[in-house]
Amino acid sequence: MSVPFIRPRRLRASEGIRSLVRETSLSAADFVYPLFVVPGKNVKSEISSMPGSYHLSADMAVKAAKEVYDLGIPAVMVFGLPEYKDECGSSAWDMNSPVQQAISKIKAALPNLVVMSDVCLCEYTSHGHCGLLNGEKVDNDSTLPLLAQTALSHAVAGADMVAPSDMMDGRVQAIREQLDENGFKDISIMSYAVKYASAYYGPFREAADSTPQFGDRKSYQMDPANSREALKEAELDIAEGADIIMVKPALAYLDIVRQVRDSFTVPIAAYNVSGEYAMVKAAAAKGWIDEKRIVLETLLGMKRAGADIIITYHALDAARWMRE
Ligand code: PBG
Ligand code: ZN
Repeated sequence: MSVPFIRPRRLRASEGIRSLVRETSLSAADFVYPLFVVPGKNVKSEISSMPGSYHLSADMAVKAAKEVYDLGIPAVMVFGLPEYKDECGSSAWDMNSPVQQAISKIKAALPNLVVMSDVCLCEYTSHGHCGLLNGEKVDNDSTLPLLAQTALSHAVAGADMVAPSDMMDGRVQAIREQLDENGFKDISIMSYAVKYASAYYGPFREAADSTPQFGDRKSYQMDPANSREALKEAELDIAEGADIIMVKPALAYLDIVRQVRDSFTVPIAAYNVSGEYAMVKAAAAKGWIDEKRIVLETLLGMKRAGADIIITYHALDAARWMRE
């Protein structure tokens, strides 16, 4: 008896067979589409570092959200550029700021669209850091009530889910308590639990006007060299009440997505960040890559790594391509 000649190629022989044995699938239902909301009316201007993404006034954000919803994408994530900035980022919890206005307008027009909001101070502080300063240091504990107040203002505006991205310790608990005390016990928290200090956020900082005026974010965001620390951060945030855990960035951190997926039972989100998006758009514009195939393969890779949810600027295009 000879050893059988094993032929894995049999199961690749036709599209029908391939579809039967396919292990992972990508769907528009996995996506969250980020929106950048600015003051004013009738504003739609392309973000130079992120072609195909726009600064939108609240009214135009509603139009974009309608497009998102019609493509079967269940959620948007709202970011805002405020009218004014100060030392403590007080426009972050101003009910008249673009984010709060956009949230309530989107929810009124599209009650079934899930509206998530990014909770941070860096777009709102004059110094561009994600928390209050004490000298040149970003102070953890005095920042917590401001984040909680910001999250509450989003909930009051109508957000279904708040997503703190600041990386202060204890902020999930502070936000959870503030929401609960004010009657928002059913509003969920998607924590940017595992967020690395990454160069991949470069284009976003231009989009959100949130570049720190001095220093960097390494004293609060994670060291890209660490993976055990990712599990620690996820564990802490789950213990504090996070409903969903995010890993960010995605592409250079797929091993982390997998480890977090295998270690916890909560849903895992991967953030396909601005730098990942910009690289694809730049190479596609040069004609060096097939944008559609690269994007769908990349997003599938995130799914395969264990992400349940993918936050991506490619969401609209990807959803359209998957319909073709
Ligand atoms: C705010 C925030 C950032 C991103 C999401 N929320 C930037 C940062 O931390 O500097 C990055 C998103 C992206 O690059 O697409 N803290
Ligand atoms: Zn921030």
